[in-house]
Amino acid sequence: MPPQGSSLAGDVDALYLFLVAVSVFFSALIAGLIVFFAIRYKRRAKHAVGVPIHGSTPLEILWSAVPLAIMLAAFVWGTMVFFRLSRPPANAIEYFVVGKQWMWKFQHPDGTREINTLHLPVGQPVKLTMTSEDVIHDLFVPGFRVKMDVLPGRYTTVWFEPNRVGRYHLFCAEYCGTEHSRMGGWIEVMAPDAYERWLAGERGQETRLAGPEELYRRFACESCHRTDSTARAPQLAGLFGKAVRLKDGQTVQADENYILESILQPNEKVVAGYQPIMPTFQGQMSQEEALSLVRYIRGLEAGK
Ligand code: CUA
Repeated sequence: MPPQGSSLAGDVDALYLFLVAVSVFFSALIAGLIVFFAIRYKRRAKHAVGVPIHGSTPLEILWSAVPLAIMLAAFVWGTMVFFRLSRPPANAIEYFVVGKQWMWKFQHPDGTREINTLHLPVGQPVKLTMTSEDVIHDLFVPGFRVKMDVLPGRYTTVWFEPNRVGRYHLFCAEYCGTEHSRMGGWIEVMAPDAYERWLAGERGQETRLAGPEELYRRFACESCHRTDSTARAPQLAGLFGKAVRLKDGQTVQADENYILESILQPNEKVVAGYQPIMPTFQGQMSQEEALSLVRYIRGLEAGK
C-alpha cells in the first residue's frame, strides 16, 4: 500500500482491508472444510452408500442470513465512504486540471500554471476541476486514494485533503495512446508557508526568467521531440538553419521566426510526415520564455 497521504485514505484502506479479510476468511473456511469433509467422510467400505440428507432449515437460514448481513454492511460502509469521497467540503480550494496527450496541466487559483507537477499546501482541502483536450484520461493518485476520469467536453471533479508533506506519484489510469504509461507526474505537498513562498517565486519568474533547460522540462517538450525512434515530432537537435519540408509541399527555412511560430501556433506549418498533434503554447508562456526556448533550440546540436 502506498503511504496514506490524504484525510480519507484511512477510510478507504479500512474498507478495503475489511473486504480482503472477509474474502480471505471465507476462502480459507470453504477450502478447509472441503479438505476436512473429504477426509472425514470418505468412502470406507467398497459398497458403502451415503446417508440421505433432506435439508436443514436452520442451516439454510444461517448461510443466507450471514452473507446478507456481511454484504449489507459492506454496502452501507462503502456508500458512506463514497459520499465522503464525492462531496468536496465548502472550504475546498479549486484548482484546474487539463489532461491531454500526454501531459497534465495544472492551474492554481492565482493563475500560476504547472505541467506534470502540482504543488499544494498540506492540510487544505483541494477540489480539482478537470477536463481533457483530446481523449479520455484518468487522474489517479494512489497516495490519496483518488481516481477520476478526465473527459473531453465535460468537467469532472475530485477532492482530497493532503495531510502529510511529501511527494505523491500521479498517474493516468485510462489507456489514452502511445505515451499513456509515461503520462504521469508528482503532487508536491508542502508546508503552507513553503507553498506561499513557492507561489511567490513562481509568479516572480515572469520577470526573473527560468533557465531554458528548466522551461524545456516544464513544458514537456521532450515528451514528443524525443531523439529515439518513437518520437512523434521532429527532432530539434541540429534543426536550426536547415530547410524543412512541410506537409503542403512547401519548404521553409528553420529560423527563429519559424521556431517561435511552431511553438505558439504549431498547426500553421506542419512538417511533412508528422501529425498536427502539438498543442498551442500561445498564452501558456510569456514572450521572454518563448524567446528563451527559441534560443535554446537554436543552440541544440545534432546528435545531442
Ligand atoms: Cu492519459 Cu492514459
